[in-house]
Amino acid sequence: MSVRELSPPIPKAGVMGWPIGHSLSPRLHGFWLQKLGLAGSYEALPVRPEDLAVSLRGLQDRGFCGVNLTVPHKVAACAIVDELDPTARRIGAVNLVTVEKQGRLFGRNTDAYGFTQNLLAGGFKAERGAAFVLGAGGACRAVIVALVDMGFGEIRIANRTLERAEKLAREFAAPSCKISVAAWDEAPQALPNIDLLVNTTSLGMKGQPALEFALDALPTTAFVTDIVYAPLETDLLRRAKLRGNRAIDGLGMLLHQARPAFKAFFGRDPQVTEELRRYVLEDKSC
Ligand code: ATR
Repeated sequence: MSVRELSPPIPKAGVMGWPIGHSLSPRLHGFWLQKLGLAGSYEALPVRPEDLAVSLRGLQDRGFCGVNLTVPHKVAACAIVDELDPTARRIGAVNLVTVEKQGRLFGRNTDAYGFTQNLLAGGFKAERGAAFVLGAGGACRAVIVALVDMGFGEIRIANRTLERAEKLAREFAAPSCKISVAAWDEAPQALPNIDLLVNTTSLGMKGQPALEFALDALPTTAFVTDIVYAPLETDLLRRAKLRGNRAIDGLGMLLHQARPAFKAFFGRDPQVTEELRRYVLEDKSC
């Protein structure tokens, strides 16, 4: 038997989405592979929604150890994988699929982890407090799960479509965490006693309308974070900083959610550093 036959296969991973050209993940994983001197590859995989099941089922034959999933595949993948981890089940979305023994597909969600790690890295101390969440869409679900698991005692959700916020409040209320809703127009008045304000809407993103949300009632001790990272400093974060609030941008959530994925694919726990942030930001689309 030759040495070549004995060596383990080079781990191959990627990210599936449609469209996928905008994804920063190949750049991010490529940076870590190079930094850690690991053999491995990570590629952008354009997959149409109707081809998701076949593409996931074909991963093993194509030599992949796993993939990340992005828009629009995260929810659909829940019904395709063979096993879902409890966090992915609660969030109702999968952003990491690994190929296990006998080709079984294991679905996980690392977005809540990424959100929490980004806050902690930005100096936020997780204590039983109150959070205010703007939005009630898909991205919001991972944020709510993260906040409940961080030990927040109270979460208030404001969304343009009130029913979506009410549905989330019913679904995620826990004995340790009271979840209430606020009408979108009255939300700015519902900010006193808040420790953390989170924007999970698409407002403020490049090409989207601005998030016109008055911060006057927000305590200056509160942290403000935005899951939007293009632009890196959203208008919300800029206004928060100007009045003395600590602001944490959304890029860190993307970088931190990728760490468990990298570990699953390539076996090493990578670091989120300033050098990585700068490298990822050099991508002109961000
Ligand atoms: P995602 O899965 O990325 O969260 P989504 O499910 O479409 O995307 O949710 C986008 C969020 O941004 C929702 O909370 C949405 O409010 P609605 O539930 O009322 O649609 C919010 N959003 C988008 N455009 C908005 C706007 N112009 N004003 C207020 N909220 C807006």
